[in-house]
Amino acid sequence: MIIVNSNSTDNTTSEENFSTSKDRVKQVFSGIAGDYDRVNEFISFGQIGRWRRALLSEIDLKDGQRVLDLGCGTGMLTREIVNSLRSGEVVGVDLSPEMINQGVKEGNCTEDLKVEFKVGDATSLDFATGYFDVVTSAFMLRNVESLTSAVSEMRRVVKPGGRVVTLELAKPKLATFRTIYLSYFNHILPWMGKLLHGRRDPYCHLTTSLKKFPDQDELKQLFERAGLQEVSYKELTFGIAAIHSGVK
Ligand SMILES: C[S@@+](CC[C@H](N)C(=O)[O-])C[C@H]1O[C@@H](n2cnc3c(N)ncnc32)[C@H](O)[C@@H]1O
Repeated sequence: MIIVNSNSTDNTTSEENFSTSKDRVKQVFSGIAGDYDRVNEFISFGQIGRWRRALLSEIDLKDGQRVLDLGCGTGMLTREIVNSLRSGEVVGVDLSPEMINQGVKEGNCTEDLKVEFKVGDATSLDFATGYFDVVTSAFMLRNVESLTSAVSEMRRVVKPGGRVVTLELAKPKLATFRTIYLSYFNHILPWMGKLLHGRRDPYCHLTTSLKKFPDQDELKQLFERAGLQEVSYKELTFGIAAIHSGVK
């Protein structure tokens, strides 16, 4: 796999409702990169792999496609995308070089399948308009400084008829289940972080980002406002996570 470090320009503001500071997010993920996959597996009770596979099945990849995985992190989803294709182009982009470097261990490029990891900002991408067949992201949207800019950029770089498909934590609609779930996030998770990782703050970031993030219906509306069509979502594990999909 090839890593190309590119410096992107920051042209976003932090005035939106669902804003998260980019520097803070980069610092959080760079700080936990070494433990990220192990801890995630634990705190999601082993569900995270199943959710990524559900996303992959929703994307329904075809050989020859160009696919962009935004907020690729250690590349868990990117590698599944690569393993699903015999030809095409797969690009993983993440704000944190430490997250990317944690995952990149071996070469996967073949003559027919180009694989590349780049450092970059999902809200300001340096790809040509309409370059990709599919743009995807798993658990990134909750972290971006400007959600509107990120979804607009996803739409911009996908070709007409191409798809934007995202996986993100969501808010269960069933009141009792939602209460239990939010208590887990608010009270138990930061302490689990302390136990597993020695620090509470990255897991407080998880809690705060989830609180600020729109629910499933609001995110669907945001996709529609960004100009995506046929927007729909599918809930996973009683609405703990959701896959949103839209067509350009
Ligand atoms: C929760 S992790 C998810 C990683 C990976 N997609 C997965 O499924 O495990 C979120 C990732 O999004 C990245 N990220 C946050 N804001 C970003 C931005 N504006 N542009 C690109 N990546 C971003 C973080 O650095 C982090 O690696």
